Amino acid sequence: MSSDKETFEPIERASIDELRSLQLQRLQWSLRHAYDNVPHYKQAFDAAGAHPDDVRSLQDLSRFPFLVKQDFRSQYPFGLLAVPREKAVRLHASSGTTGKPTVVAYTRNDIDTWAGLVARSIFAAGGRAGDIVHIAYGYGLFTGGLGAHYGAEKLGCTVIPMSGGQTEKQVQLIRDLEPRIIMVTPSYMLAIAEEFARQGLDPASCSLRTGIFGAEPWTNAMRQEIEARMGIDAVDIYGLSEVMGPGVAMECVSSKDGPVLWEDHFYPEIIDPETGRVLPDGEEGELVLTSLTKEALPVIRYRTRDRTRLLPPTARSMRRIERISGRTDDMMIIRGVNVFPTQIEELILKQTALAPHYHLEIFREGHLDSLTVNVELLSGVEDHRARRDDVAIELVQLIKSYIGVTTTVLVHPANSLERSAGKAKRVTDRRQKGSG
Ligand code: DLL
Repeated sequence: MSSDKETFEPIERASIDELRSLQLQRLQWSLRHAYDNVPHYKQAFDAAGAHPDDVRSLQDLSRFPFLVKQDFRSQYPFGLLAVPREKAVRLHASSGTTGKPTVVAYTRNDIDTWAGLVARSIFAAGGRAGDIVHIAYGYGLFTGGLGAHYGAEKLGCTVIPMSGGQTEKQVQLIRDLEPRIIMVTPSYMLAIAEEFARQGLDPASCSLRTGIFGAEPWTNAMRQEIEARMGIDAVDIYGLSEVMGPGVAMECVSSKDGPVLWEDHFYPEIIDPETGRVLPDGEEGELVLTSLTKEALPVIRYRTRDRTRLLPPTARSMRRIERISGRTDDMMIIRGVNVFPTQIEELILKQTALAPHYHLEIFREGHLDSLTVNVELLSGVEDHRARRDDVAIELVQLIKSYIGVTTTVLVHPANSLERSAGKAKRVTDRRQKGSG
């Protein structure tokens, strides 16, 4: 067993003074780099009357304008690059639901930094050189697969680059190659666990000891479910392609108290999403990130649309983020009540007769929006009409009393909801014509 005192790099335990001074020095470089090399930043900074030379403290960052997803679209594909295109050794893209994808680029140094941060993250999860790591995040334009891959190699692990999908083969490779660590979305982990069970195998008796889960919102209830089913420690990895990819923040297995934001490379702020005002640590709002070392694509005050809070340091000297409760754009407003899919997830997982899979649909009834919660019975639970009705009534009541909205709950047979091999799609909005 590894000791809590160990870190991958000394900076993870730097004093606050040392960390803040490093951040300021790097912030000044990053702002200057963006201003000098990206016309978009020059125009936006000039318009806001904010100049990199005037930055004397970390708080001065709040005078600079935000960068938003739309800026990536309007600068598509290479407009935000701060280096000549030939210096970019890798591109990734995130598929937008509408319009053009967001393209991101990395220099050789950026790839090394990223690999180092993912190595640091796997180490914080308890991984060590020599461990076998099974990667079931998708490889390709998505940053999950290759991001995890380079980090695991950098740490000195033996990597199984499985990618997402082919669930039977996932199980076969886990059984035959005996990895100790798996990196995958939490929802796809459940699908793999089910495949073990379908083959008459107990997933908890496989070689896996640790799961590094992220790329989609998940709850502590889901953590407990996965830990119990798989017999592993489940830890949370956070990241986004615009800022880098996986490894922007990572939860330590020793504390399991929310991802540590790797503050030597990213400076976090929490803002009120309505007013843009910076909120004090501890208050919930939208996470805004500024890259401190990125060469190809510096991001200055990028609005992530992820909702969280900044928490004080524990296992490392850097601040933590609270588990992401959802994206501001995932928030549903049902008859005036704000609802996040993760709130519903917690309640579904309280129901012993239900499987940890769900899908939400929003409809318009007259002038009002309504929410349908699709759930399924746990396999092995006796399936008859009265049973389903009881479960549905109970969940409707739980949701009403904890969240305050009236919903329709549809209980489906075991194994009938769609499984995804990557990020789960939790919500379908049926209010707009042609959606679904
Ligand atoms: O999902 C990068 C990644 C890959 C992170 C593998 C972790 C593991 P994108 O496809 O650009 O990049 O999606 C980023 O996914 O803004 C969050 O809304 C969500 N997200 C990522 N990690 C978490 C997490 C990758 N641990 C978007 N908890 C982010 C909740 C997460 N949401």
